Amino acid sequence: MRGALIGCGFFARNHLAAWRGLGVDMVLCDRVRERAEALGAEFGAAALWTDAAAMLAGERLDFVDIATTVESHRALVEQAAARGLPTICQKPFALDLDEGRAMVAAAARAGVPLLVHENFRWQTPMLAVADALTAGAVGRPHFGRISFRHGFDIYANQPYLATEPRLALVDVGVHVLDLARFFLGDVTRLYARTQRLNPKVAGEDAATLVLDHAGGAVSTVEISFFSRLDPDPFPQTLVRIEGDRGTVELGQDYRLSVTSAGRTAVRSVEPAVPPWGARPWHAIQDSVVNIERHFLDCLRTGAEPRPSGADNLKTLELVFAAYDSAARGEAVAFPREAGR
Ligand SMILES: NC(=O)c1ccc[n+]([C@@H]2O[C@H](COP(=O)([O-])OP(=O)(O)OC[C@H]3O[C@@H](n4cnc5c(N)ncnc54)[C@H](O)[C@@H]3O)[C@@H](O)[C@H]2O)c1
Repeated sequence: MRGALIGCGFFARNHLAAWRGLGVDMVLCDRVRERAEALGAEFGAAALWTDAAAMLAGERLDFVDIATTVESHRALVEQAAARGLPTICQKPFALDLDEGRAMVAAAARAGVPLLVHENFRWQTPMLAVADALTAGAVGRPHFGRISFRHGFDIYANQPYLATEPRLALVDVGVHVLDLARFFLGDVTRLYARTQRLNPKVAGEDAATLVLDHAGGAVSTVEISFFSRLDPDPFPQTLVRIEGDRGTVELGQDYRLSVTSAGRTAVRSVEPAVPPWGARPWHAIQDSVVNIERHFLDCLRTGAEPRPSGADNLKTLELVFAAYDSAARGEAVAFPREAGR
């Protein structure tokens, strides 16, 4: 296997380290040559490029892994599809739904798989929650709470976040809403409130959502980058799913508690720290290994990657609807009326 990693910035280090651990040769591409060189020096690179189109024309590749920010996704996904290459695209997948649909259509026309790098659902603790639900531990779920609240200085590593006019929902909302759909199914109605708490950032840095799910459950989704907590759970997502037979709760420090038919079992679902990783990032780093391994499995078996670009459009629709809901102070129902 020989893949190409496009974008060698802050998060790409995790991508490349994970590919190396999975035994995949990677060609690196970044518009800023020094970034590709620095990553290649740390983890090894089969070749270095600064122009993605030239790289796609000049290399024999099995797939492309896009780890750039959202503005560049459409052009890169379309170029990869035009070359018949299976593609992974980082989140947020698209700037708007039309752009997302164009990328999904380009991959479908080319007949290539398109995976959106929604790694939260591939975190080992989230897979453990999903396993408990699939095993019927809680029975029929009727309530969910998914919470990503912290006060960690995310702007130090990702300075572009401080100037984004849309922040929490597009940056982490995509992950948390993907989790809500992963655990409880598609959403039929949503109500959102957003807050701008940190005066140094341009966009909303907190959001609170109430969702109705097609299966009958109700959930709340919470995001905050301005919570004063001790200990601060960053970058953990906390989850509770209640059903008619029991409750599964993922608490702080990866403590999974499953109450089922009157009995409670508690265990740690903390992932190992990868050899190239470090706390507190290990659950995120481990999830990158898991999602990349899943993509390789899909290439071998022909299975649809999860989440696919088409699936992720449903999550993006929730994100954009959440902004509309917050602006109007009204709930939004799905499917939305034409033109909205
Ligand atoms: N899934 C996660 O857990 C997670 C975590 C952090 C960031 N991200 C996402 O990863 C993406 C990248 O984030 P980051 O913080 O690493 O950004 P970054 O700005 O640090 O890195 C992006 C890199 O892409 C390069 N680039 C941009 N357009 C290019 C193009 N057309 N061709 C070649 N190189 C190009 C830039 O020069 C830069 O080095 C974002 O979409 C972000 O939301 C995901």
